[in-house]
Amino acid sequence: MSKKAIGFMDSGVGGLTVAKLAMEELQNENIAYLGDEARLPYGEKSKEEIQQYSLQIANFLIEKEDIKMLVIACNTATSYALDYLRNHLLIPVIGVVNPGSIAAVDNTKTNRVGLIATNGTVKSGAYEQEINKINNNIEVFSQGCPRFVTMVENQEYKDAKKQEVVDDDLSTINMDNVDTLILGCTHFPIMREMIQKSVGDSVKLIDPGYETVKQIKTILQQHHIENDEEEDTTYSFYTTGDADNFNQVANEWLNYEVHAKHLPIKELEEL
Ligand code: DGL
Repeated sequence: MSKKAIGFMDSGVGGLTVAKLAMEELQNENIAYLGDEARLPYGEKSKEEIQQYSLQIANFLIEKEDIKMLVIACNTATSYALDYLRNHLLIPVIGVVNPGSIAAVDNTKTNRVGLIATNGTVKSGAYEQEINKINNNIEVFSQGCPRFVTMVENQEYKDAKKQEVVDDDLSTINMDNVDTLILGCTHFPIMREMIQKSVGDSVKLIDPGYETVKQIKTILQQHHIENDEEEDTTYSFYTTGDADNFNQVANEWLNYEVHAKHLPIKELEEL
């Protein structure tokens, strides 16, 4: 039993899609979240940069919030830094790629799975590897959609005029005849409706967050660190970017009054 918070990290607001599911499913758990907007997009950064940033964030959450486990709620950081963080940290660390792969493999009937993600995640091949570890007969069709990340961060995800951008970026995947499409960037569930509209109702969208929360639960149980006490939970949020912008997206997505603290990037760089 542990009252310590679970740490969540992402390059921005995307990881809130995972945090939200955790808040719904694990109602006694405290949460500490950091969005690294000042250095977004991670999808265009090198492996070394992503590893360095991720370790700084993990160290911050450990020192400042005393987190009991870390969820890398970012596909790009999971693809490049999961093993690295596991090697450097003493607390349990999980990412979103293995959970997303499990959910996709479970769903596909045609063995044709699509992946939309950042260019970095696509380039890493992490999803193909993970999916083919489970089932070698599945073909993965990948498409980088970096413009979607900007749309979400800039709060343009409800702007009907942006449907054209979505259709345009999904035109290739729409020809690949997949029956399952992984939302392989944690920002994408926020614009799920636009994506579903573009690919049509016959394609099942996979949000890796659901399976990730199941894995969080398992880890808490295995390590005997669940919070069994039903008292008021505490959620703390940090952003290296603009707190007002973060709060607007977060309030709307979580339906919860978020007051993120701005964290100057210098403080992370010193860790
Ligand atoms: N949310 C992040 C992910 O899941 C990526 C956004 C970015 O490029 O920074 O990959």
